[in-house]
Amino acid sequence: MNRRYRKTIIAGNWKMNRDVSDVRPYGEALLALAGKKPPCEIVVCTPFLMIPAAAEVFRGSPVAVGAQDVSEADNGARTGEVSASQLAAAGAKYVIIGHSERREYHGEDDALVGRKLKTALRHGLRAIVCVGERAAQREKGAEFDVVRRQLREALYGLDLPQLKNTVIAYEPVWAIGTGNTASPLQAEEMCRDIRLTLRDMFGAAAARGTSVLYGGSMKPSNAAELLARPDIDGGLIGGASLNAKDFYEIVRAAEQ
Ligand code: 13P
Repeated sequence: MNRRYRKTIIAGNWKMNRDVSDVRPYGEALLALAGKKPPCEIVVCTPFLMIPAAAEVFRGSPVAVGAQDVSEADNGARTGEVSASQLAAAGAKYVIIGHSERREYHGEDDALVGRKLKTALRHGLRAIVCVGERAAQREKGAEFDVVRRQLREALYGLDLPQLKNTVIAYEPVWAIGTGNTASPLQAEEMCRDIRLTLRDMFGAAAARGTSVLYGGSMKPSNAAELLARPDIDGGLIGGASLNAKDFYEIVRAAEQ
């Protein structure tokens, strides 16, 4: 983390878990722990259906609500999709874009991720853009090339005000849901390389001001060590975000 230049953000990604009836008890438990001034920005990304309930529980609190995907289109004939303006109207402030599960199960490529990003930003959402290599790519030593290419394609054509509302999450696919967390060194190396790519694309000040999160089996027991690294500005947490107490333990690890 480097609080002088950029925000620390701990974001939960519920994925396709929990139900509408779980939102209030979870929210109340999290708010009781977080109080009025938590040590960093907290985001909870729920399934679409739960966004209105989450927005209600967290209204006026330091916890922001996020979605896990968005349509590239503004509106119209897109059966099954949800638009950025609908998300904003329902109370979402953030949206995750290009999660590896979207890439894997829905064939999303970097170009589509880039279009979704621009749509989300145009409608006033803050975006968390996910990048990360697969195990086989790392075995070949291609991880830096893979992530640089994902970033360059997804962020191509962004201007500086748009970058200000963009957060990057490095999520190595082999670390997601496996318990196989990247070592603090591996995570830091990649987050630093991401910042170098940002510097190349947008200049030093913009790169220094952009939050880069780590995601992949982050939990209370390993969060402090990861967050102590200078280029890791927070976490995107799946499994451990489903329990308010565990999730808040990770927020507390950002207190250091
Ligand atoms: P886990 O924390 O369950 O590994 O999930 C990480 C993730 O994919 C968050 O988006």
